Amino acid sequence: MKTEIFTDSTLSEAVSLLKKGELVAFPTETVYGLGASVFRPEAIQKIFEVKGRPQDNPLIVHLGALEDVEKVAKNPPQLFFALAEAFFPGPLTVILSKHPSISPIVTGGLETVALRIPSHPTAQKLITLTGDPLVAPSANTSGKPSSTTLEHVLDDFSGKIAGVIEGEPCQFGMESTVLDLVNFAVPTLLRPGAISKKAIEEMLGYSIEIYQKGPQSSPGMRYRHYSPNIPVFLFRTKEELARHLEKGKKSFVVSCIEEKTLYAHLRHAEKKGYDEVLLISEFPLSDALENRLEKILELPSLIPSV
Ligand code: TXA
Ligand code: MG
Repeated sequence: MKTEIFTDSTLSEAVSLLKKGELVAFPTETVYGLGASVFRPEAIQKIFEVKGRPQDNPLIVHLGALEDVEKVAKNPPQLFFALAEAFFPGPLTVILSKHPSISPIVTGGLETVALRIPSHPTAQKLITLTGDPLVAPSANTSGKPSSTTLEHVLDDFSGKIAGVIEGEPCQFGMESTVLDLVNFAVPTLLRPGAISKKAIEEMLGYSIEIYQKGPQSSPGMRYRHYSPNIPVFLFRTKEELARHLEKGKKSFVVSCIEEKTLYAHLRHAEKKGYDEVLLISEFPLSDALENRLEKILELPSLIPSV
């Protein structure tokens, strides 16, 4: 299959492909998404296949407008509308009870559904023109760093998906904040992102929880994530980094760790044949970065021995 590249001026061709049940990757303000119509289960099945994604890891549904929430969720609480007013469109995903018309393939068999309204103009136009909400996981092979550029998407999926849309850069570079409004007594953060816990608490006027690992965890939390095929080490002091550098490996050193560029650095280092990525930060990072780094560095063999 030839992967077509579209732009905002050829969006209608991408829309036709989506309506035919094909996969089209598109930019959002967080990362690129690998899109399919929420009402095309056979297309959604292809998402799991091309990504190599475990079937029980549910997908986020992307809406064009707030009124579409009725199509995918059942009885959203008032709290949802308050959050939507404050943070939509933007990098916040909310977990609600699912509408009966949503296939279990979208939700990994759960009775809940994740949804958000992206603010990226290309994503907005694409969803509106398609007329259906779009499911879209991050557009990367399962386990790899998310894609933040057209080139990343092609590196993973060229020849495997029908199309990809080139658009304005992904403003944030890291996946959305995921907030569960269903499974806990108080709203609970399943994944930190650009919308901070503090911003949500300030808006609500009370404290929310951060999910700690356990059986009710977001299914995505069980899998290894965001990692290149080369080891990644994090150093908290320059001395530790200097000691490691004495080993004489071909190291790609990142001394400015930012949400917007972390994934691009990891992908670049792997593609250019470096032996390892060395991250150095003498200061605590944002909750979103600390969360992703915890997963990237998760395997014991990747934790620096110095
Ligand atoms: O910024 C983003 O959220 C990007 C862009 C493309 O929108 N998408 C994204 O999708 O990061 P994905 O599939 O890579 O991550 C979705 C996360 C996974 O951890 C998944 O387990 C969780 O959301 N999730 C989806 N539906 C859920 C549900 N019903 N309950 C709990 N967690 C859910
Ligand atoms: Mg992902």
